[in-house]
Amino acid sequence: MNESHLQFLASPEWGQMLEAELLPWIEAAGDLGDDVLEIGPGPGLTTDLLRQRAERVTAVEIDPTLGEPLRDRLAGTNVDVIIADATAAGLPDNHFSAAGCFSVLHHMPSPEDQDRLFCELHRVLRSGGIFVGQDSLDLESMRVAHADDTFTPVDPDEMKDRLAAAGFSETRTDIVGFHFRFLSRKP
Ligand SMILES: C[S@@+](CC[C@H](N)C(=O)[O-])C[C@H]1O[C@@H](n2cnc3c(N)ncnc32)[C@H](O)[C@@H]1O
Repeated sequence: MNESHLQFLASPEWGQMLEAELLPWIEAAGDLGDDVLEIGPGPGLTTDLLRQRAERVTAVEIDPTLGEPLRDRLAGTNVDVIIADATAAGLPDNHFSAAGCFSVLHHMPSPEDQDRLFCELHRVLRSGGIFVGQDSLDLESMRVAHADDTFTPVDPDEMKDRLAAAGFSETRTDIVGFHFRFLSRKP
């Protein structure tokens, strides 16, 4: 991620946007259960939302320059930070009660990597487990903001089919601001 993007993700403005636009979506998803997996916590503002709503959170971050400080900041709390690629982190089958993935998909190198992540999340969620997230729309302003960065936008209209191909059902999406939000379930 470029430096200005990173600063924004750690800023009070981003925190307020998460509270206003993401939190109601997470809360509408219902009980996240006791053991929540988060993909791509970055500086951890999304982790802070999840850890107040779950007994345990496991946050998988691919970038050690973000994962290590987050691990230090959250040491001794209900969060474990694992530094790994979430498409191949070696997590156990049928283990987590819910998974969250916020502004991560467009940072993955290709649609195939995104689909691999969906399959992996389906494998590690329990039956009935919720998969909740949000991601950027393919807007010119978002392309400019990611000028020297990875930007692989997801078409919200394709989420239902792509998640179904990974085994998920009951997928819903909606659009708010420059994001879309999604909610799905492992049958
Ligand atoms: C834009 S940041 C979002 C941070 C946070 N979720 C938020 O919304 O504030 C995307 C994060 O996903 C991480 N990421 C990208 N691909 C990943 C992967 N395959 N496994 C784990 N983390 C990944 C990036 O390193 C980055 O920290």
